[in-house]
Amino acid sequence: MEVLGIDIGGTGIKGAPVVIETGKIASERFRVPTPKGGYPKDVAKAVKKIVKHFSWKGKIGISLPMRIRNGVACTAANVDESWLGLDIVALFSDALGIKIATLNDADAAGYAEVHYGAGKAKLGKTLVLTLGTGIGSSLFMNSVLVPNLELGHLRMSGTTAEILAANSTRKRDHLSWEIWAERLQDYLTYIEFLLDPDLIILGGGVSRPKRIKHYFHLLNTRSELVPAHFQNEAGIIGAACAAMTNST
Ligand code: BGC
Repeated sequence: MEVLGIDIGGTGIKGAPVVIETGKIASERFRVPTPKGGYPKDVAKAVKKIVKHFSWKGKIGISLPMRIRNGVACTAANVDESWLGLDIVALFSDALGIKIATLNDADAAGYAEVHYGAGKAKLGKTLVLTLGTGIGSSLFMNSVLVPNLELGHLRMSGTTAEILAANSTRKRDHLSWEIWAERLQDYLTYIEFLLDPDLIILGGGVSRPKRIKHYFHLLNTRSELVPAHFQNEAGIIGAACAAMTNST
């Protein structure tokens, strides 16, 4: 069975049909730029272009970088504040004429890893962290999602974890891999203290093999620490999974 997964980010909106049985992308993904300002109605129009591109009539799952409870946005950290309190299911279902499922983007990336990737068939507590513009987090107990963690916003050193240790900070402040890894290490130590996971999966662009070699060996955790299996497509694949569960 195929489900259209759509991942909404700060700069781009990507979508592709996903084969649910395997987690494989069924046809080449389609990307449109996130409209300037990222306002909900404009984003809904952009999503419509993706649905049209695939002439899609089936199930759709959409991931967004915000806490989503019962289909309603409860936070708006790196997006326009008009998302706050918005009924996301209604917004997209009305625009597309199809009922959609929605979830947080890190929860989606976590689904992709736990169902098909680095966390597949793992028992115990698995924590997935996505290091990008912000820090996304998702927690699974025996592959069951504990949604909406938002551990990127933990207070650390007088600021928040994602301001201190997101990959965007490394790039913006031209941090060396060593300095950035020290910050990431502090964050991981804090997270381990709070959650005591069995497995931590590091995702986002920095989990690519050519990036991993710069910093992974500098990290030290009690939990097993592994790079994510998926990078760019994790959100799409996990969003498709959401349409098969009740995680809205
Ligand atoms: C948002 C999260 C999101 C993460 C990664 C954070 O700023 O609050 O909801 O998962 O960025 O995109």
